[in-house]
Amino acid sequence: MKRIIAFIAVLTMVFMTAFGAGSTDKKADTKTTGAQGDGSDVLVVYFSATGTTKKVAEKIAFITGGDLYEILAAEPYSSDDLNYNDRNSRSTKEQNDKKARPQIGSEDISLEGYKTIYLGFPIWWGEEPRILDTFVEKYSFEGITVIPFCTSASSGIGRSGQNMEALAGSGTWLSGKRFGSNASESALQSWIDSLH
Ligand SMILES: Cc1cc2nc3c(=O)[nH]c(=O)nc-3n(C[C@H](O)[C@H](O)[C@H](O)COP(=O)(O)O)c2cc1C
Repeated sequence: MKRIIAFIAVLTMVFMTAFGAGSTDKKADTKTTGAQGDGSDVLVVYFSATGTTKKVAEKIAFITGGDLYEILAAEPYSSDDLNYNDRNSRSTKEQNDKKARPQIGSEDISLEGYKTIYLGFPIWWGEEPRILDTFVEKYSFEGITVIPFCTSASSGIGRSGQNMEALAGSGTWLSGKRFGSNASESALQSWIDSLH
């Protein structure tokens, strides 16, 4: 019996060593995949109302080894708020008002040390949701290259990048790119490679 218990204990140790169980260094784990250096100066910022842009943002962070920051609305968007068939829904009203600036609920982030920011969002009525305008007006992008990306049902990124660049007033803004809901990691990798 003792020999069986000892054998199981040895097996468990072998498995733990082989598969890294018990490792507490999660942050380091997420950094090992970066194809563009260690990603320590890359930040992926995104807003996502229904999870599509979030998935793309996570893939970009995985590829670049960058950090992730989610822009959350202080007042979350309900499905009624997102109803684009309703001209009185919150999202329709906000998109119709260029001056609307929905409040951000996520904690402030320091952009110090970041050289590249991928900035992701869904297309709402052909452009960036107004909460992106809140974000770009809130921070300084001095010395940072900002790369917009979006997801949409079919529309392109349109003037979203130019709109945000004008509102931000700082940073080097690259022309952005639109992805569908199933953007593959290889498509994202090729796009990222093409930026360098
Ligand atoms: C209020 C609203 C407006 C939208 N307007 C457009 C549009 O003009 N063109 C388009 O192709 N998709 C449009 N969509 C679809 C979203 O862009 C698309 O579903 C996106 O991938 C959602 O991203 P998310 O899940 O990260 O929020 C709209 C969606 C919403 C909720």
